[in-house]
Amino acid sequence: MFFPCTINVDKIIINGPCKITGSVKISGAKNAALPLIFASLLTEEPLRLTNIPHLQDVTTAMSLLGRLGVKLELNEQLSINVQAKALSSCRAPYELVKTMRASILVLGPLLARLGEAEVSLPGGCAIGTRPVNLHIKGLEEMGARIVIEEGYIKARIETPSGRLQGARIFMDMVSVTGTENIMMAATLAEGTTIIENAAREPEVTDLAVCLNAMGAKISGAGTSEITIEGVEQLHGATHHVIADRIEAGTFLVAAAATRSKIRVRQVIPHHLDAVLKKLEEAGAVIELGDDYIDLDMQGRKPRAVTIDTAPYPAFPTDMQAQFILLNSVADGSATVTENIFENRFMHVQELQRMGANIELKGHTAVVHGVEHLNGAPVMATDLRASAGLVLAGLVAKGETVIDRIYHIDRGYDCIEEKLSQMGGEIQRVSGRQYQQMLAAAAG
Ligand code: UD1
Repeated sequence: MFFPCTINVDKIIINGPCKITGSVKISGAKNAALPLIFASLLTEEPLRLTNIPHLQDVTTAMSLLGRLGVKLELNEQLSINVQAKALSSCRAPYELVKTMRASILVLGPLLARLGEAEVSLPGGCAIGTRPVNLHIKGLEEMGARIVIEEGYIKARIETPSGRLQGARIFMDMVSVTGTENIMMAATLAEGTTIIENAAREPEVTDLAVCLNAMGAKISGAGTSEITIEGVEQLHGATHHVIADRIEAGTFLVAAAATRSKIRVRQVIPHHLDAVLKKLEEAGAVIELGDDYIDLDMQGRKPRAVTIDTAPYPAFPTDMQAQFILLNSVADGSATVTENIFENRFMHVQELQRMGANIELKGHTAVVHGVEHLNGAPVMATDLRASAGLVLAGLVAKGETVIDRIYHIDRGYDCIEEKLSQMGGEIQRVSGRQYQQMLAAAAG
């Protein structure tokens, strides 16, 4: 057997079909941890963050802060101390920004703290164009002068006081990192900033809670209007990162698709309301505890469910790929409509190679459930698409080899370890080990 694969890149091999069982501890949220790490730029004092997930994106964020002169300390597991006492640079270079778009989140804090910032434009992205015009427009409305030169966003405060000025900012689209960038910058502005049509994601609220612990005056986070009264300076704080609702949702779909029964632990159940509603519609029995969710799908085939992605509290785009997989092995047909990103269906082609019956019509996937999928070599293309492929490998008959899994490592903390502890036949191999396995199989 031979198929083109990327040499020297880790792969995940899954032998399905598998059932999973038991419980899994959910890690801290990637999308909360990243803005929190960058919030450290707003103060000279140390920020201590606990429940930090072990992810490539967190490593990238820390490398970026290191470049800016921030002191970083890894404490006992899952906790970091970050201190931006004296910053040595205000420039976020292309090589770091291109691997992680969330690096754009240094723009607001650097500008507010130093009066200037240079952040590489993130460039293209597998899931769509993902512009940052709303971040730029918001900061301009607060008095920043911004030009785009040589691929960089170059921002400078040119107000008489040298501080950003509070403003009423209407976001034309709901943007999570856009809201976070402006909210962080506004904490140190002169006067009051109001963000209208703000993102309501729990990660935005978590950032506001931490900023308030650092001395900011933010109200309304979690609603579509956030008010930030600027203060002269922020101070250090300790903050516990909220649980990753997308990781939790991914494990719950894994259980539903494999007709299993599991518990996800250390979560905030109501953050998953939209996802849980769809899982119940698919036939899962769900029970909630204070910080856990039980899902029971034993012996039942899921029913196909209609999905429309939209900003929180509606159904998250980051769970779309996983539900396309669930529908692929469900009873009946249903549509999955992607309303946030224009090119977020790259997992569909890979699932089709495993036997899924999916038609793409613009930004809607019409998914017709089939009896079973077959294992195949597949390619991870972006973070959440990869999660869909891991679940497909658990469900499919035979061997699935997922190439380019560095995409998964960006956002899932030890996914293969967690699934194998729950009974999944899943392992990570290096590119070299995989070549050796192929050679041995060829005799
Ligand atoms: C965040 C999440 C990502 C999630 C996404 C949508 C982080 C680190 N990442 O990404 O996991 O998939 O929210 O829930 O939190 N847009 C503009 N102009 C802008 C900004 C955004 O047109 O300046 C558009 C985007 O192209 C997209 C939509 O707004 O169509 C929402 O994007 P946004 O919420 O900004 O996504 P991110 O914050 O990058």
